[in-house]
Amino acid sequence: MFSCRNVLILLGPPGSGKGTQSAKLSEVLSIPAISTGEILRRECQSGSDLGRTVQAIITAGQLVSDDLMNRVIVSRMLEEDCRTGCILDGYPRTVSQAHFLDDLLNGRGIPEPTVIDFAVSMKEIVARLSRRRQCSACGRIFTAPLGGDPVRCDFDGSILSQRPDDHPKAIRARLELYRQNARDLHRYYSRRDYHRIDAARSTDEVLDEVMMILQRGARRPVQKIETALTATAAY
Ligand code: AP5
Ligand code: MG
Repeated sequence: MFSCRNVLILLGPPGSGKGTQSAKLSEVLSIPAISTGEILRRECQSGSDLGRTVQAIITAGQLVSDDLMNRVIVSRMLEEDCRTGCILDGYPRTVSQAHFLDDLLNGRGIPEPTVIDFAVSMKEIVARLSRRRQCSACGRIFTAPLGGDPVRCDFDGSILSQRPDDHPKAIRARLELYRQNARDLHRYYSRRDYHRIDAARSTDEVLDEVMMILQRGARRPVQKIETALTATAAY
């Protein structure tokens, strides 16, 4: 069985299911899912000056600076719950972030990350994002049924809302930025532990394929990373 003493990276366009799968994988593998988008949205909700600046960037569908994202990811990965590994959803998103992550992992003797790249057509992405709703309390992601909105979360009864960057103009901007960075990221990771998968299938089928990839990889000897991830560092 895959024991994930490692870092799993989920790449893919907006709406490809990174958040949906990272929540499922986090449960199955018992390691935290780190979504840089969720961390930023929490900062926006806090009402801080930084949150207000970030909110404007996200709503316009633009990218937050590499420097800020790198600092966010280091501080989150050094938390106790990442001792045995973590799932990165939405990071790295540029080659510069990927370089930074490699330096971070190499500097601590952490094994090469496993990269899963979710492939979904543009048509499917637009359809998914227009129907995405999210719980304001627990963050769970839902798909609104056609012809009507579910108003409450199945799990805690909280109101479901639509993300401010799920409007057509921001979706176009996010897809364009994704296109600009995706080819370079693909090139960066393609000769490594990289797997591009068809993410247009059902959520269970996608989860099964990711688990199969991880189980195949688990046959390779993997170095422990507990101490490496918690070591005090120059970052
Ligand atoms: P982020 O929150 O990461 O947004 P994103 O990358 O655009 O991806 P999404 O969250 O929109 O999609 P997803 O792949 O998670 O799909 P989901 O599972 O929700 O980032 C937001 C913003 O923060 C960025 O635009 C940027 O401004 C900033 N940011 C974040 N990270 C950054 C970084 N590293 N550097 C710079 N800036 C950064 O699924 C979508 C819908 O599809 C849901 O309704 C779901 O129910 C449904 N669905 C999922 N899987 C399936 C399936 N298999 N079949 C049918 N429906 C499905
Ligand atoms: Mg997401």
